[in-house]
Amino acid sequence: MNRREFIKGAMTMTALAWANPIILVDAASQIKWWQKKPVYQIYPKSFLDTTGKGTGDLRGVINKLDYIKSLDAGAIWLTPIYPSPMVDNGYDISDYTGINPLFGTMEDFDELIDEAKERDIKIVMDLVFNHSSDQHPWFLESKSSRDNPKADWYIWRDEKTNWRSIFGGSAWEWCEERQQYYLHTFATQQPDLNWENPEVRQALFDAANFWLDKGVGGFRIDAIVYIKKPKIFADGAPDSPDGTCAIHNMTANTDGILDFLHEFKRKVFDGHDIFTVGEANSVKPEDLRYWVGADGVFDMLFEFSHVNVMFNNGDEIWHRSKPIKLSEFKKALSDSQRATRELWYPIYFENHDKPRSVNNFFPHGSDKILAAKAMATILFTLRGTPFIYQGEEIGLANTKFDSIDDYDDISSHGAYDLARADGLSDKEAMRFVQKFSRDNARTPMQWDSSKNAGFTSGKPWLFVHSDFKSCNVELEEKNPDSVLNFYRKLSAFRNSSEILLGGEYEELYPDNEEIFIFTRTLGEKKFITAVNFTTHDVKLPAQIFDGMKKIFGNYSDEKKYFRPTEAAVYGN
Ligand code: GLC
Repeated sequence: MNRREFIKGAMTMTALAWANPIILVDAASQIKWWQKKPVYQIYPKSFLDTTGKGTGDLRGVINKLDYIKSLDAGAIWLTPIYPSPMVDNGYDISDYTGINPLFGTMEDFDELIDEAKERDIKIVMDLVFNHSSDQHPWFLESKSSRDNPKADWYIWRDEKTNWRSIFGGSAWEWCEERQQYYLHTFATQQPDLNWENPEVRQALFDAANFWLDKGVGGFRIDAIVYIKKPKIFADGAPDSPDGTCAIHNMTANTDGILDFLHEFKRKVFDGHDIFTVGEANSVKPEDLRYWVGADGVFDMLFEFSHVNVMFNNGDEIWHRSKPIKLSEFKKALSDSQRATRELWYPIYFENHDKPRSVNNFFPHGSDKILAAKAMATILFTLRGTPFIYQGEEIGLANTKFDSIDDYDDISSHGAYDLARADGLSDKEAMRFVQKFSRDNARTPMQWDSSKNAGFTSGKPWLFVHSDFKSCNVELEEKNPDSVLNFYRKLSAFRNSSEILLGGEYEELYPDNEEIFIFTRTLGEKKFITAVNFTTHDVKLPAQIFDGMKKIFGNYSDEKKYFRPTEAAVYGN
């Protein structure tokens, strides 16, 4: 259903609901299930450990389904749970149709699907199809000689280019057995699959279909913009003292990629009541229509413009980041909202790759609880499906380890090395690692005030955040004003609001560097969301709020100005 059809349905629904509430239900049911409710993202390794080994597992997810239900989520996106050497925590897959024993068994997975279904929650799998693990039998065979049956299942070359992998260092690794280099967009242990080979594509599609047969509710498709490589491999303009250039700038969104993706859609997604969301760093807003919706490939696309606004381009060099300019952050969100007016959009501020948003988007000195609620206010009132990342709903903040050796995240090590090669001292390089490390989002989930925040009875694989005694689910459950209860209220509110589900988006004062303010309008009905991103009071022209009443916010009372980190939603 496109936006016009939706609005027509919703308007009819409002007018008729007075006379016959049943019609409201009928019209609302035209919205797809994955548009109606948020998705909750789980990083299973850090969610809940039920065995005491220090890493989370599928049973931990099963145990917390009621908790996830309490957020009115319609789906759970599980980051990879397949067999893996775990060099990149599961994004290096060695068997696409198995379950990593670290997380449990296939029986646990089947039980999870069934238990989730009981609660009207679907399970969404993460497909990592740009690359496999170097321990995958396909790669072991491919590297064994130049003429084995899988010899060209990966990308082999006699010569290397100056491309730098996303995790740092050359994107080419020498293989003694073949006397050739193979390409890896990410870590050396993540060789890129050769999508030009139809057998490779079919093997990947078969794997996805295996999970569809199990009854999964959809897929998040990892790093999809890299699957097509340019015809001719050439050096790029170096952007680093070692003479390398970011591979992203050489291979992302290569012409012809959509042909592969349409085949993927035809052979896997079509005909299933699922949703798909592609991870697509740097697809431009004007190109979104080729990627999503009826004429595109996916239902939604995670593009990075708003979360990478501190970087100059797609390469994400941490130590060259600049402070966020609010107008640029707002522009990125508004551009995406406008570009998906007739389409649909996943709204997210956090995931397993990004710092915690209470640190990322607010100035130093901001109140963390107000900040968490402010981000939630935006998350639930923009147009699209909200994605909540585990811990975001209790306001988890960034962690800070003093030594690079304490960081598990492979990209933190690459970023540290690159910063040192660029002349930064250990202390300076660490400042950027602490700010941007993916471990910020990967510290164990904080369930209660007991040892290890109730995450494990053993030794946690990654340090638990030091604030767990004051920030955890158990405490927040009991506090009606907690971040968690704010999330629950907002989620329920958004999921039943025709205006928030379908209303038109418009940004006010786009150049204002202090406040993000936008409206959502459906017919005569309107909401205004306003968030103060500063640590001081800010005044807005009073006429904006004429005829509007405050519905909720992170301060309980109301003033004629916006207090530090204040967020509020008004309605007429
Ligand atoms: C995606 C994942 C990230 C992973 C990378 C390589 O960006 O979100 O966690 O490291 O792809 O698979």
